[in-house]
Amino acid sequence: ATVHGEEKVAIVGSGLIGQNWAMIFAGAGYNVYLFDVDPNQLTKALVQTKQTLARYHSQGVIRGSGTSDEQAARIHGTSSLPECLEGAFYVQECVPENLDLKKKVFAQIDELASDNMILASSSSCLCASMFAEGLKHKENALVAHPINPPYFVPLVEIVPAPFTRSDVTQKTRLLMEKIGQSPITLQKESLGFALNRIQYACINECWNMYQTGLLSAEDIDKVCHDGLGLRYAFIGPLETMHLNANGITDYCERYAQGAYNVQKETFKPVPVMYDTDTAKMIEEEFSKSLPVDKLQARRQWRDSRLAALAKLKREMKDV
Ligand code: NAI
Repeated sequence: ATVHGEEKVAIVGSGLIGQNWAMIFAGAGYNVYLFDVDPNQLTKALVQTKQTLARYHSQGVIRGSGTSDEQAARIHGTSSLPECLEGAFYVQECVPENLDLKKKVFAQIDELASDNMILASSSSCLCASMFAEGLKHKENALVAHPINPPYFVPLVEIVPAPFTRSDVTQKTRLLMEKIGQSPITLQKESLGFALNRIQYACINECWNMYQTGLLSAEDIDKVCHDGLGLRYAFIGPLETMHLNANGITDYCERYAQGAYNVQKETFKPVPVMYDTDTAKMIEEEFSKSLPVDKLQARRQWRDSRLAALAKLKREMKDV
């Protein structure tokens, strides 16, 4: 296969996340090579990305340039890792979240990698220092963690290891911007990266309120999807403080004592969620409106809502 300099991207692992990256890069005009150890999965991934792009086109939520067929034609499948990597300037690893597997796959990629190739992992929890330490090209390795579904939720957490070269981190960030994702860069590795730490803080307080019998599970969730979430789709908690007074210093002068008192009074230590009694009670409440056999339909509903919101945000970008 002919490749055009910087334009080829390699994706290793063609499951949910690999397919999302493939569609995002193809929409941005890159030549995408998808590799998987499972040939059936690879065939499925090519069919699914083509169908999904066509569906997104008909729903008016497709990203990037060109028709859905043109975009799908930029996604190639290969059952050869060398062919996948040959001439690529960027590799996005998307194999299951398992440390030994990541180590093995990164070692294989390392053997075939060129000196300038960026080696990015989609890992949600593992840091690059855990699986890339021994590589010849470890300076080119880092985590670029997407958020599900990445096609409609653009945040990417870029997490360099102590040994990652700073220009690799910068180039990855620029690339993410170029393809229409929204990157953030952690200055160092930190468990949970950023999104999950904020998400856990939120979940913890939901759990705490539920356990103390303050609200139903449905009403707790409503606080986010009909309250905070609307705001947070456009501005974050810190800018919210800045806007809700005459600047964040003024906000703190006015409200910080109150916020401190509320937290001192109501916050509890980190909840032990693996003690599943609370989970069972919440599930019982949800099962009335959302039994487990209806979850797939609800996921599709969620993704179509996220697609519409992502489109709205793109349209409003410069307004
Ligand atoms: P998945 O299970 O849907 O896909 C994994 C794919 O990797 C499968 O197609 C499998 O055949 C393939 N694979 C297994 N061993 C391989 C090997 N040695 N070489 C090449 N391919 C191999 O998993 P998913 O959900 O796509 O996750 C991939 C990564 O993305 C994980 O690290 C996960 O933590 C991360 N991630 C997942 C998110 C999610 O919501 N599912 C969100 C953000 C990141």
